[in-house]
Amino acid sequence: MEKSNSFEIDNLLDEVLKENIYGEMGGLLLSKGTKVTERQLALLKRHRLEAQRRDRIPMQQFEQLLNDVQLNMDHLRNLIESGEGDLVEEIDGTIETFSGLLEEMLHTRHLAEFIELLQGYDHSIYCHSINVGLLAGLIGKILGFPDKVNHILGQMGFLHDIGKLRIQESILHKPARLSDDEYAHVKKHPIYGYQLLKSNKKINRFVLLGALLHHERLDGTGYPFSLKKEQIPFCVQILSVADTYDAMTAKRTYSKGKSPLYVAEELRKEAFEGKLNAVIILPFIEYIMRQMLNQEVLLNNGKFGKIIYYFEGHPTKPLILVDNECIDLRSRKDLFII
Ligand SMILES: [Fe+2]
Ligand SMILES: [Fe+2]
Repeated sequence: MEKSNSFEIDNLLDEVLKENIYGEMGGLLLSKGTKVTERQLALLKRHRLEAQRRDRIPMQQFEQLLNDVQLNMDHLRNLIESGEGDLVEEIDGTIETFSGLLEEMLHTRHLAEFIELLQGYDHSIYCHSINVGLLAGLIGKILGFPDKVNHILGQMGFLHDIGKLRIQESILHKPARLSDDEYAHVKKHPIYGYQLLKSNKKINRFVLLGALLHHERLDGTGYPFSLKKEQIPFCVQILSVADTYDAMTAKRTYSKGKSPLYVAEELRKEAFEGKLNAVIILPFIEYIMRQMLNQEVLLNNGKFGKIIYYFEGHPTKPLILVDNECIDLRSRKDLFII
């Protein structure tokens, strides 16, 4: 999947920029109002070249991994049910394949496009594991952590729900409401996951904690231990954001392909309610916004608009251009991006 340039760089010489231009990591390259000189043009070209090199989303690799993970996890489920085999030996190979994909993703420029891709895929536990792993790694990148940490975050995400393999599929996919017993069983998956992974000395300590604590919430309303913010490691808080984000997209199968901003807004509410960490969520949303500058979005009134500016502190309520009219979404309670 390749993305075409949103503007021709050469045409910008001597132009006064009508919008900020950001680099690969979302940093400001040239600000709005700048008159573009030869030197600045060269700077933009260098960044664009770099970006083009990294532009391709490795779709084939993603699908191959999804296939491998599916086979691997089905095999694991059988092993768990029969009580045989070394579980962690079995997952080592899959972790390696996953890390390869994560490495690619950590250097992909179009995060927003990538996130849309994840959203549009299926929402099986296999896909959820890959998505949360990749998202956790990418959030780490956005927050400025080094690749080494982002790979650990990736593994945390990849293995966070492994305990669900101890829960019968008939319960996991039950279309009706779960009984109290069934619900209590499902809520034990963090403990099951921890138990499954802890015997392997190669597994990083934070991967274990991720499996055990990813449903804890900062305000103490999570499970299994009702921990509070200061008791939950920051990297697990990142994992919880990635997990919640992916779970929210899964709930919206009816609206496949809609803007990641819609989900971002839902996530922002979680931060305001004190369940998830705003320090993690806000930069994540702002990064998505920057990636979406100049992109076409659909509004709830059925009209298409183009994001032309986003306001600090109001990342999900940008300025958009609709039919040659600028609309400030901050002042329009009736309008939002879907
Ligand atoms: Fe979970
Ligand atoms: Fe999950």
